[in-house]
Amino acid sequence: MASSPLGRPTRGTTGTNRLRRNDRWIAASDAFRRAADPLVVDLGYGASGVTAFELATRLRRVRPDAEILGLEIDPARVAAADEQLAEVRTGRTPFAPDLRVSFARGGFETPVPGGRRAAVIRAMNVLRQYDETDVPAAWHAMASRLADGGLLVEGTCDEIGRVASWVDVRQNGTPARFTVSLRLAELERPSIVAERLPKALIHRNVPGERVHELLAGLDREWDRAAPLSTFGATQRFLAAVAALRDQGWPVLGGRTRWRLGELTLPWAAVAPLP
Ligand SMILES: C[S@@+](CC[C@H](N)C(=O)[O-])C[C@H]1O[C@@H](n2cnc3c(N)ncnc32)[C@H](O)[C@@H]1O
Repeated sequence: MASSPLGRPTRGTTGTNRLRRNDRWIAASDAFRRAADPLVVDLGYGASGVTAFELATRLRRVRPDAEILGLEIDPARVAAADEQLAEVRTGRTPFAPDLRVSFARGGFETPVPGGRRAAVIRAMNVLRQYDETDVPAAWHAMASRLADGGLLVEGTCDEIGRVASWVDVRQNGTPARFTVSLRLAELERPSIVAERLPKALIHRNVPGERVHELLAGLDREWDRAAPLSTFGATQRFLAAVAALRDQGWPVLGGRTRWRLGELTLPWAAVAPLP
């Protein structure tokens, strides 16, 4: 373990089911499904280890050999999560007592014992309290600990996990894709995600920037598709995303992902202007 972890402790806000949309993304990723060693790091899990337990529970349905390492820069939070883990092992919690989860202290250098490399590193709501200028170095430090073909997922969501967005970063530290993930029931406007953009984009939601054009376009098409609400919010979102694609936005994935309230584009489509 590095003697001085990279980064600094920040507020530890977390919560049950907060990261379910992100868990689902990781569970579906090739980086996880095809990994030789399905080790997934939950970096900056916060004041409770609950997101690591939930991630382990969801991932083992896909791969029973999935293993989660929760890393926190705040040693008191590692001690708290270890106590929770001891409780999980007794079988007196909703989580399986044999979950493959462990916790350790670490920062962006992402220390993994035994020279192993992570298939996926997830860092949700961690960079929010850093500066935009800190982002590239943090991405590089974390991504350099990935296995070949691995994935860093870095982003932000609201307290109850209904509005989320994240960036997929490659092993060389360069961003590959940007995803918005929204709970469609009761959604007023997709641009609510402007408040929950990853640090690299949150200050760029201003006229002239690509991410601003994207969110404005998504709102416009969501409004235009309002008559489809009779058939449900999913049909309305599907129509809005299809319209964006028809206008030339390089929307990735297909209806299976869109139905979940997800919209994914190559990073280049939203990257901040130089
Ligand atoms: C807001 S909490 C997020 C908890 C959880 N990931 C979630 O989304 O619910 C952010 C946590 O990241 C931790 N953190 C901040 N910088 C870090 C770093 N460089 N390495 C590891 N943990 C870090 C903080 O100590 C804090 O507990």
